[in-house]
Amino acid sequence: MRTAPLNEVSVCVFDAYGTLFDLGAAARCCADELGDDAGKLAALWRDKQLQYTWLRATQARHADFWQVTGDALDFALEAIGIERSGLRERLMNLYLALDAFPDVRDTPERLKAAGMRTAILSNGTPAMLSAAVSSAQLATLLESSFSVVEVGVFKPHQSVYRLAAERMGVPAHAIAFVSSNAWDAHAASASGMRVVWCNRYEQCRERLPGAPDFEIRSLMQLPGVLGIA
Ligand code: LAC
Repeated sequence: MRTAPLNEVSVCVFDAYGTLFDLGAAARCCADELGDDAGKLAALWRDKQLQYTWLRATQARHADFWQVTGDALDFALEAIGIERSGLRERLMNLYLALDAFPDVRDTPERLKAAGMRTAILSNGTPAMLSAAVSSAQLATLLESSFSVVEVGVFKPHQSVYRLAAERMGVPAHAIAFVSSNAWDAHAASASGMRVVWCNRYEQCRERLPGAPDFEIRSLMQLPGVLGIA
């Protein structure tokens, strides 16, 4: 891990789900119907969603993230034994308007004020990302959202991470990629980008190739890591 600030960085690129947008929010909003199963459903839904992206990427059988998210939800509802009319649609609609984490508003504002360019790089489809960004009122703070649809494969395929430098028109080392997903942070480090792991969930270190340059607990620490007062 580095200790000196990443002064060479001029662009900050964020992962979306789990980093900016709170994945647990959809199930929490349906607590009236899900009761004690809300947390269990949210966790299994996310686990399956990620597994399906990794398995599809390995097999070169891409489907968009909206479909994968729905497939994962169907699996999770059946596995937990939840059958309620209209609940699937309600949860999927809520996925388009997930709450942003409380530290998300301030940080992009501070980065923008310091002249830093910002964007999203995500598995999400352009429609999902644009809905989430506008619902979280981040549209004026983020320059762009890049989706894996441009390369037709999910993270952690390296072509996804290369998109950031290609589309922002800067060398990879001028970008700080920020993700709360440890596997995403490890994989992104192979692209030449500087990587900040926002370890929101106090997870232990992954035993995977690559390594983040910095580990933080909240996005509030990001400006400091980037040498912004
Ligand atoms: C994304 C997933 C990995 O937004 O959270 O790409």
